[in-house]
Amino acid sequence: MDKKLSSPVLSIENLSVKFHVENQTVEAIRGISFELYPREIVALVGESGSGKSVTCYSILKLLPKYASVSGKISLNSKKLRIDNILKEDESTLRKIRGNIISMVFQEPSAVLNPLLTVGEQIVEAILAHQNVSKTKAKEIAIESMRKAHIPEPERRFYQYPHELSGGLKQRVVIAIAVANRSEILLADEPTTALDVTVSAQILKLFKHLKEDLGLSILLITHDLGVVAEVADRVLVIYKGEIVEEGNVFDVFDNPKHPYTKKLLESRPTISDII
Ligand SMILES: Nc1ncnc2c1ncn2[C@@H]1O[C@H](COP(=O)(O)OP(=O)(O)OP(=O)(O)O)[C@@H](O)[C@H]1O
Ligand SMILES: [Mg+2]
Repeated sequence: MDKKLSSPVLSIENLSVKFHVENQTVEAIRGISFELYPREIVALVGESGSGKSVTCYSILKLLPKYASVSGKISLNSKKLRIDNILKEDESTLRKIRGNIISMVFQEPSAVLNPLLTVGEQIVEAILAHQNVSKTKAKEIAIESMRKAHIPEPERRFYQYPHELSGGLKQRVVIAIAVANRSEILLADEPTTALDVTVSAQILKLFKHLKEDLGLSILLITHDLGVVAEVADRVLVIYKGEIVEEGNVFDVFDNPKHPYTKKLLESRPTISDII
C-alpha cells in the first residue's frame, strides 16, 4: 500500500520514558518516533529490556506513576481524534483502552477472568463501550468469536477460560477487540506461549484482521520468522532507541545497523534445528 495515500492512525513523536527507582534513573525509551498506518502490521523487534513493552504501555498510558514520560502520541481513529494521548485524563483513556486500542498479551489467562464464561466477558466488554441491549451484545459476541476463527462459537460462549486451549483463549482476547471494532491492536509476544502450529494460526488470524477489518497491528516479537511471515514493516529497537526501520524485505536483505546484522546472524538455521 502506498502510505502517502492515507494518514497514520497512530503517531508517536519523540517518546521518552524514564523510571525513577531508589535514587536511580533508568532511561527505558530515548526519543523514539514511528507511525502506524491503517491496515498494516508493524513488527517491533529487539532484545530483552530494549523497551518494547514500555512502548506499548506508553501508548495506552498504563505506566506507573514513578515513570516520567515525554513526547507526543496522536490518535487519528475513525471514532476519536486525540492530539496527545499522554495528556488525556482517565475518562478519555477508558474510551480508548479496549475500545479503539486493544492489547493482546503473551498470557491470555492474565486478562481473562477465570470465574466468568467467555461469553459473559465478551458481552461485558461490549456493554462497557457500546449502547446496545444484552441480546444484541450476545449477537455481536458470537459474530466476533466467529471473526476470531473460534469454532462452534455458540457452544464456546458458555465455556470458562480453563476449558479452552491457550490458542482459543488468545482468540477470545482477540474477539473482544473485534467486538468493540478496535482499530489498533498492540500484541506483546502474543504467540510466545503457544506451540508452532497454534502460533501460525494466530498469525494467520492477524493477517485476516488486517486485510478484512483494516486493523493496524503493532506486533512485538523475538521471532524473526514471525516477522518475515506477517509484518509489512519492521522497527528494530535497541536500548530504547529505534535503530532501524523499513520494509521487512529491505531490512532483512540489507540490514544497516550492527545490532540488526547480529540479530539476523543469530537466527537459527536449518542445520541448528535438525
Ligand atoms: N515498571 C517498571 N519500573 C522500572 N523499570 C522498568 C519498568 N518496566 C520496565 N522497566 C525497565 O525498562 C526497560 C525496558 O523494559 P521493557 O519491559 O520495555 O523491555 P522489553 O523490550 O519488553 O523486554 P522483554 O523482551 O524481556 O519483554 C528495562 O530496563 C526494564 O527494566
Ligand atoms: Mg516485554
